[in-house]
Amino acid sequence: MIDKNKLPVHVGIIMDGNGRWAKQRMLPRVMGHNAGMEAMKKIVIAASNMGIKHLTVYAFSTENWKRSVEEVNGIFKLIVKYVNSELQELIDNNVHINILGEYDMLPQDSVEAIDKLLSSTAGDDGLTFNIALNYGGRDEIVKAVRALYEEKKNQEEQGVFIEITEDDISRYLYTGSANHDIPDPDLIIRTSGEERMSNFLVWQAAYSELMFTDTLWPDFTAEEFEQMVEKFTHRNRRFGGRKEEDK
Ligand code: IPE
Ligand code: IPE
Ligand code: MG
Repeated sequence: MIDKNKLPVHVGIIMDGNGRWAKQRMLPRVMGHNAGMEAMKKIVIAASNMGIKHLTVYAFSTENWKRSVEEVNGIFKLIVKYVNSELQELIDNNVHINILGEYDMLPQDSVEAIDKLLSSTAGDDGLTFNIALNYGGRDEIVKAVRALYEEKKNQEEQGVFIEITEDDISRYLYTGSANHDIPDPDLIIRTSGEERMSNFLVWQAAYSELMFTDTLWPDFTAEEFEQMVEKFTHRNRRFGGRKEEDK
């Protein structure tokens, strides 16, 4: 049994291994992404049922544009499919959706599907499901610094003494209070055996617990997710300090 008091408030997932899953089956890569979307649907509902407050998945990175046009467009088409098939279930489960990243340069039908997804779930107060789409952690920090510069420049012009703090930068990230106001991730999971961040929530992950599994994303199940969350409840987080009993 999972100790509900120790649940991670925010779980991030780097959903990796769709391509290898497809390759193992001699299928086109897009079929791997389709299978990955099926896995994602189940994890969203599992997270919601477990009482996790925030779930962020890495769906498309600012670096994934390097892939073939065919693969990139295939991924974007899946967004339209996802919205058409899942919107009602998300609403029924009271799931609130945010996009982390700029999506206005996606194909028009994907942009429209996303706008519908956001507007239809805006009032929901259950699980916050954040989709990192055309997201890069460094790109996010650069955008935050630019926004902060505009704010501070105005203050300086008014003769106010300028100071820059960590909170100032955090505020303008997609997760910050000037945007979606999401706490830092407590737990970050990456599938497919790769053990790196690949530009996911680089600022916010400073003290996240990291977990890796060899399971390819399309094979990832609600059971494995629950096992990892359970393991998280036994982790000893110190944030640079010391445990009370050690002092
Ligand atoms: C993750 O699966 C999904 C995206 C990056 C969009 P990959 O497509 O990276 O799968 P592998 O790493 O090639 O197996
Ligand atoms: C990270 O996976 C991005 C997503 C899961 C969307 P990649 O497959 O793009 O990362 P690398 O290239 O292996 O680092
Ligand atoms: Mg990959």
